[in-house]
Amino acid sequence: MADRKTKLIAMIEDRTAKVGIIGLGYVGLPLAIHFGKSGFPVVGFDLDIQKIEKLLKGESYIKHVPIEPINEMIAAGRFDVTSDFDRLEEVDCILICVPTPLTDKMEPDLTYLVQTTETIARHFRAGQLIVLESTTYPGTTEEMILPCLEKEGMKGGSDFFLAYSPEREDPGNQKFSTSNTPKVVGGVTPSCLEVAQALYNCITRVVPVSSTRAAELTKILENTFRSVNIALVNELKVLAHKMGIDLFEVIDAAATKPFGYTPFYPGPGLGGHCIPIDPFYLSWKAREYDFFTRFIHLAGEINISMPYYVIEKTVDALNRDKKSMKGSRILVLGVAYKRDVDDDRESPGYAIMKMLLEKGAEVIYNDPWIPRLRPTRKYDFQMDSTPLTPDMLAGTDAVIIVTDHSDYDFTDIVRHSRLVIDTRNATKGIEDAGEKIVMA
Ligand SMILES: NC(=O)c1ccc[n+]([C@@H]2O[C@H](COP(=O)([O-])OP(=O)(O)OC[C@H]3O[C@@H](n4cnc5c(N)ncnc54)[C@H](O)[C@@H]3O)[C@@H](O)[C@H]2O)c1
Repeated sequence: MADRKTKLIAMIEDRTAKVGIIGLGYVGLPLAIHFGKSGFPVVGFDLDIQKIEKLLKGESYIKHVPIEPINEMIAAGRFDVTSDFDRLEEVDCILICVPTPLTDKMEPDLTYLVQTTETIARHFRAGQLIVLESTTYPGTTEEMILPCLEKEGMKGGSDFFLAYSPEREDPGNQKFSTSNTPKVVGGVTPSCLEVAQALYNCITRVVPVSSTRAAELTKILENTFRSVNIALVNELKVLAHKMGIDLFEVIDAAATKPFGYTPFYPGPGLGGHCIPIDPFYLSWKAREYDFFTRFIHLAGEINISMPYYVIEKTVDALNRDKKSMKGSRILVLGVAYKRDVDDDRESPGYAIMKMLLEKGAEVIYNDPWIPRLRPTRKYDFQMDSTPLTPDMLAGTDAVIIVTDHSDYDFTDIVRHSRLVIDTRNATKGIEDAGEKIVMA
């Protein structure tokens, strides 16, 4: 046993250990590049043949992930991408980065993870390290992955090493990436932790914790913290509108306090693959302990209500202009869940578009990073992004700013539009707009 551990750590330290990454999405692809740049041979696995083909053709499918380092690594024979899972046998470390969404009933959907674990179980061999990076509830690694792998007759901690290390990727963040963001790691046994720590030490600072469950809960705590604080400012935004106070001004003033305060900003609702989803993994698991996570549910309730609030404000503003929602031409500006990313998962823009259509509005959208709306689990709009021109803006009855992409010239947008519903404070400082701008 000691031999397997010592051998794998030695291979990691001299960078001869081959790293396999399952799931080449927003998390897995940058991670693959990072390990490649740190000197490891890397094999990327994905079920999506189109992604594999694109990478082999020299095309990136994620806006903020440049293709150059990928091409260089592939040309140097240090990065290989494949859909052939038989090749899991040739790697020494397997990192799992597959999706962990919610079902329609807001319960954890572990389909991708179960499928991946079963695939690993069919192909893994003694001496490998397996690390789950996908976000999930405390207990997943020990209760689901470990027994599935041990069914093959091998023992975790001696025949193979199993750990959990949450991904903290913030797509588009120019300041923090994998290299300067510490990595929390928990092992199923002390040996598992030691091997996983050795691997991540090669790419960043490691924060070891006592168990995989502690590491799993760390990730959910981080994202619940964001969800609860965003809900707080979203609720205060509604009150501030009634009181005639600019909450953005208040938040900026509060942020001058050098201790004990972190600014969060209100918006049209929560989006992305993490914040709207991860807390519900914990609240689902909590039920097993007869425990009700009230903060998570309250935050969820408030954040989910925000697109409804945006619609209410739009109806009121149109009404003020003697117009009804039915028949109005409305432009949804930005469907990415946040500024300057091409990720539309769980975007509040979609909830807004759905309600607008249900109320009989004629809906168009523009997003420089999302030229066409693909069907999602919940929505199927079949629309192309409408080019942003002065004539197009002048032809709308209202423009709803959902995402404040930095490519947008908001002064120009306000100038040519008749009514602008601003959910992001994107029109801050624009003067002479009269009652044209409505904050929502
Ligand atoms: N996107 C983020 O900013 C972010 C940040 C931190 C954590 N996470 C977590 O990381 C995990 C992955 O998220 P993501 O945003 O990278 O998802 P993603 O959808 O962008 O990528 C997942 C990839 O896994 C592939 N895949 C699915 N099932 C597979 C299987 N059985 N075998 C091989 N490949 C498979 C998909 O084709 C896809 O390419 C999730 O648990 C998420 O919560 C995401």
